[in-house]
Amino acid sequence: MRISAPLLFAVIGFTTLTAAAQTTAAPAKAHHAPTPILAATPPMGWNSWNFFADKVTDKDIRNAADQMVSTGMKDAGYVYVNIDDTWEAERDANGVLHTNSRFPDMKALADYVHSKGLKIGIYSGPGPKTCGGFTASLDHEVQDAQLYASWGIDYLKYDMCSFGDVMAAKAPNDNAGQMRLMIAAYTKMGNALKSSGRPIVFSLCQYGVDAPWEWAPAIGGNLWRSTGDVQPNWDSIYDIISEQAGLAKYAGPGHWNDPDMLEVGNGDLTLAENRTHFSMWAMLAAPLLAGNDLPNMKPAIKDILTNKDVIAIDQDKLGHEGTRVYADGELEVWARHLSGGAMAIAVLDLGESRYSTHPFHLSLAKLGLHGPQMGKNLWTGKDVTLTDGMPIEIESHDVLLVRIASPK
Ligand code: GLA
Repeated sequence: MRISAPLLFAVIGFTTLTAAAQTTAAPAKAHHAPTPILAATPPMGWNSWNFFADKVTDKDIRNAADQMVSTGMKDAGYVYVNIDDTWEAERDANGVLHTNSRFPDMKALADYVHSKGLKIGIYSGPGPKTCGGFTASLDHEVQDAQLYASWGIDYLKYDMCSFGDVMAAKAPNDNAGQMRLMIAAYTKMGNALKSSGRPIVFSLCQYGVDAPWEWAPAIGGNLWRSTGDVQPNWDSIYDIISEQAGLAKYAGPGHWNDPDMLEVGNGDLTLAENRTHFSMWAMLAAPLLAGNDLPNMKPAIKDILTNKDVIAIDQDKLGHEGTRVYADGELEVWARHLSGGAMAIAVLDLGESRYSTHPFHLSLAKLGLHGPQMGKNLWTGKDVTLTDGMPIEIESHDVLLVRIASPK
């Protein structure tokens, strides 16, 4: 980072003053509690886009907050109620952004969500327009961050969209130049949020282009999309899972890979596919942002979204993202190291036909384990013992998810 002369002067001046103050006054004992890490574990909540898309209203957000409480999702750890695109209207003569008629009073809405013990998120982007063609934050970053803070917003999803055109116009045919512009644009909002006076989770949405995992943490990003948009079908879930291998080293407390929001309960995903989707987002230490129709959530979907054992894998405080250890035909074996020396193992059957890769024999040796391993099957709740070479039968698109408390 290049430091400008006035900034350098300010830093040196501040250091000198501080040093002087320390020599002339008796040192006061500092009692600063450590600042809690924002998004110390992957954010959990619900986002309006996957179900409501551009139709979302204030009432839908209030209903979602109510439902998060009444369904037990809040108790299971879901906290954020996030408004996605299409809440925005135009700016006034002072550049202040207004909400459209579907969101008559954002402060009142935020107060309502907070009154339920939940937090609220909002959406914008670095370009002139959002993906839905609504007003975004270009040249108004500080003003918008302050506006969000004044409303009581706790989370911002910042979606690249039309900034692509800005980059292309400013640095035509210059990939490196365009990347610099993009990072600068995200940095601007990261800084604006930091100086807004309110802790606001910063979620970067630029679909994983230009390896955001390499630069987003340094500019204040708490999570960054590592893929294009998820869709509520198996192909999309499968593609996303495959794209995540290799990204584990970039995740950790305060900064997470984001394979996009959950589609659990949406589209034509079967129960097995919903289970695998949720299991793998937990293995990947992914943000768990449900996107389903909460008032009409089926019991089987609620059971998936509120499975506390699976959520505990996702929220494990070590923050070590799981990795793909090996594949055997259409079966894949993933592992995640957990706090207290525990381990989660997921065996997925990605094949199209039942028993497509069978017989499948589990190799504990490939997982670095020796001898029988006692664990819990997190979808049946039953105790299991895994042994080297044991045959495992998993139906197409389903998963075996096991937590081993003391792997040997
Ligand atoms: C992009 C994002 C989606 C959603 C829409 C809203 O496609 O990736 O998650 O926010 O924009 O317009």
